[in-house]
Amino acid sequence: MKVLFIGDIVGELGVDTVKKWLPKLKEKYKPQVTVANGENAAGGRGITEKLYKELLQAGVDVVTMGNHTWDQREIQDFIDREKKLIRPANYPDNRVTPGTGMTIVNVNQLKLAVINLHGRVYMGDFEDPFRVAQELVDQAREVTPHILIDFHAEATSEKEALGWYLDGQVSAVVGTHTHVQTNDARVLPQGTAYQTDVGMTGFYDGVLGMKKEPILRKFTTQLPNRFEVPETGRTRLNACLLTISNTTGRADKIQAIRIDDDMPWFE
Ligand SMILES: [Fe+2]
Ligand SMILES: [Fe+2]
Repeated sequence: MKVLFIGDIVGELGVDTVKKWLPKLKEKYKPQVTVANGENAAGGRGITEKLYKELLQAGVDVVTMGNHTWDQREIQDFIDREKKLIRPANYPDNRVTPGTGMTIVNVNQLKLAVINLHGRVYMGDFEDPFRVAQELVDQAREVTPHILIDFHAEATSEKEALGWYLDGQVSAVVGTHTHVQTNDARVLPQGTAYQTDVGMTGFYDGVLGMKKEPILRKFTTQLPNRFEVPETGRTRLNACLLTISNTTGRADKIQAIRIDDDMPWFE
């Protein structure tokens, strides 16, 4: 099984970047399923139903979220009926949180479980992601050994630790949230693919996908500023490709992918 995972899609420009490159990526790498983090799709803050549908239309099969999950109020109205949109599983009272943290999709004759988790280091009061991960992985493994985790977290240490914690139990632990692709993709000894951060998809001459000027003003003056995604500009797509054994669910390979507008070799 080949799975393509696209990192944090930032703004409508990021959604356009996915529309532009995903068909070409599918042609070149032939993934059977594509998962993307959409927590920043709506101008950097959350996702709307319209943008979620556009991502599905563009060829994304599952959308994961993160600390920006609830930024667009309307998500509370549609997340429960959209089975391919998941949010972090470890909210403090999961019984009242809209949506779900795990979904299982059919991939030809196989199934892939996708789990979304939120880090705690520098990120707030969430349930223990290690304990919640273990509970969900136990549930998922009754159905399939093919399991992908999007761990939306700030601290590299927390991400690496979860990778080791789940090594041999899941196909992959990939990180999102920091928006910069890390150069550490590898398969851990027991067969779990790992990358600290897949990186973001969107405007690339800014700060984490946003226009740089308001952010520079914020850093230099501490005055309030509204951060924005520009409508046009050079873009980058960051992703990783996972090759997973059909029989065991162990990863054979993880390959980091980065495409910039000005990389002519890709076509
Ligand atoms: Fe993000
Ligand atoms: Fe985030």
